[in-house]
Amino acid sequence: MSHKRSSFSGKVGFVLAAAGSAVGLGNIWRFPYLAAKYGGGIFLLVYLILAVTFGFALMTAEIALGRKTQLSAIGAFGSLNKRFSFLGYLASIVPMIILPYYSVIGGWVMKYLAGFVTGEGAAMANDAYFGAYISKTAEPIIWFLLFMGITAVIVLFDVEKGIEKVSKIMMPILVVLILVICVYTIFSMDGALDGVAYYLKPDFSKFSIMTVVAAMGQLFYSMSLAMGIMITFGSYMKKDIRIEKSVRQIELFDTGIAFLAGLMIIPAVFAFSGGDETALGQGPGLMFVTLPKVFATMPGGSVIGAAFFIMVLFAALTSAISLMETIVSIFRDKLGIGRKPACILVFGICVALGLLSCLGYSAWSTVKIIGMQFLDLFDFLSNSIIMPITAFATCIFVGYILKPKALIAELERGGPFKARTLFTVMIKYVAPIFTLLILLSSILDVFGVVKI
Ligand code: PFF
Repeated sequence: MSHKRSSFSGKVGFVLAAAGSAVGLGNIWRFPYLAAKYGGGIFLLVYLILAVTFGFALMTAEIALGRKTQLSAIGAFGSLNKRFSFLGYLASIVPMIILPYYSVIGGWVMKYLAGFVTGEGAAMANDAYFGAYISKTAEPIIWFLLFMGITAVIVLFDVEKGIEKVSKIMMPILVVLILVICVYTIFSMDGALDGVAYYLKPDFSKFSIMTVVAAMGQLFYSMSLAMGIMITFGSYMKKDIRIEKSVRQIELFDTGIAFLAGLMIIPAVFAFSGGDETALGQGPGLMFVTLPKVFATMPGGSVIGAAFFIMVLFAALTSAISLMETIVSIFRDKLGIGRKPACILVFGICVALGLLSCLGYSAWSTVKIIGMQFLDLFDFLSNSIIMPITAFATCIFVGYILKPKALIAELERGGPFKARTLFTVMIKYVAPIFTLLILLSSILDVFGVVKI
C-alpha cells in the first residue's frame, strides 16, 4: 500500500482496528459449527492450545514483518528477500478467495435480519426454513449482491473510518447480547446443560487428526493469519508499541468472542435436538437454524433476534471491508490503477466467484469438485491448502532466511519480549512441521487416500 501509510493513533487504536478486522463471521458463524461438529470440548481445547502457541507466534511474526519493513505483504517479503516475494502473492490470493463466499454468508445474515424486522421470525424457527432458503436461486443472490455492494461502496468512497467508529460501539453490544442469549438458553432450556458439558469437557475419544486440521484452519481464518492482513496492520503500527502485548489482547478479544458464540449455540442445539449427531454436524447452517428457535421461545425474542443480526452484520461488514481494502490496495499497487477502477474490478471478480457459491446450493447443487460444492471448496482451498502453505513458508522464511533475531529486535522495541523462546521454538521447529502435517492430512483426507 504505497499510496497511503498513516499510522494508528496509539496502542488502543491498533488493537481495536486489528480486532475489528479479526472479529467477524469466523467467530460467530464458523467457530460454533466447527466446535459442534468436531467433538465440542476437545475441539475447544485444541483450538486454545494452538491459539496461545502457534497463533501467537504467527501473528507476532506477521505484525513484526509489517512494522519492520513498513510495507504490506507483497512488498514486505520481497524487500527482505527477492526470492520470497512469491509468498506475498500467495498470501494475497487468500482474501480474494474468502471475500466472495464471506459475502454470501453476509447476505444470509442480512436476510435473517430482514426476517426479524418484518416479523417473519417465527417462520425462521422452522427446521426446514434455512435449507429451503439457500436452495432458492434468486433470493440468496440478491442478498449477496446487496452485502457485496455495501462493502464495495464503503471501500470506494473510502469511508471505512465511519463504519469502524460505529462498529466499536456495536462490538460491546454484541458481546452483551451473546451473554444474554447464553444465560437464557443455559438456565431456561431443558437439555442445554448437556450441551455445556459437551462444549466444555474434552472427550478424548473424539480426537482425530481432523480435529487439529479444522482447529488450525479456523485459527488462520479467525485471526486473519496467513493472508497478509496482519503484515499490513503491522506496517501501520507505531514503532514504540509492544507488539507482544497487542497480540495477546487481539487474541483474547478474538478467542473470547468465538468461545462465547460457541456457548450461545451449542447448548441450544442440545436443547432442541438432544445432541443428535446430525444436528451437531450440520455445518454452515448451524447458527441460522438454531438461533431463530431460541428467539422464538424467548420473551422479546424478535427484538433480540433483530438486534443480534444487526450486530453480526456490522461485525461481518468491518471484516469484509478490510478484506476488500486489502485486495483493492494490491490491485492499485500492482496494476497502477486508481481506487475506482480497482474497486470495480474487485467487485466484478467477487460477484463472479460469489455467484458460484450461491448457485452451489441451488441450481448447481449437483456440481461437485473433489466432492465439495463451491462454498465448501473455496473454504477448503483457502483454509486447508493455501493458508497452511503460506504459514509454512512464512515460518521457514522467518526461522531460517531472515532469522528470528532480526524480528526479535523489532519485537523488543517498547519493552522486553517475554515470549522470545516460545516464539523462536514455534517458528523454527514446531510450526513448520505442524503446518506441513496439517497440509498433508487435508490433502490425503479430501482425496480419500487415507480416511482420517
Ligand atoms: N477474521 C475474520 C473473521 O473471523 O470473520 C475474517 C477475515 C476478516 C479474514 C478480514 C481476513 C480479513 F482481512
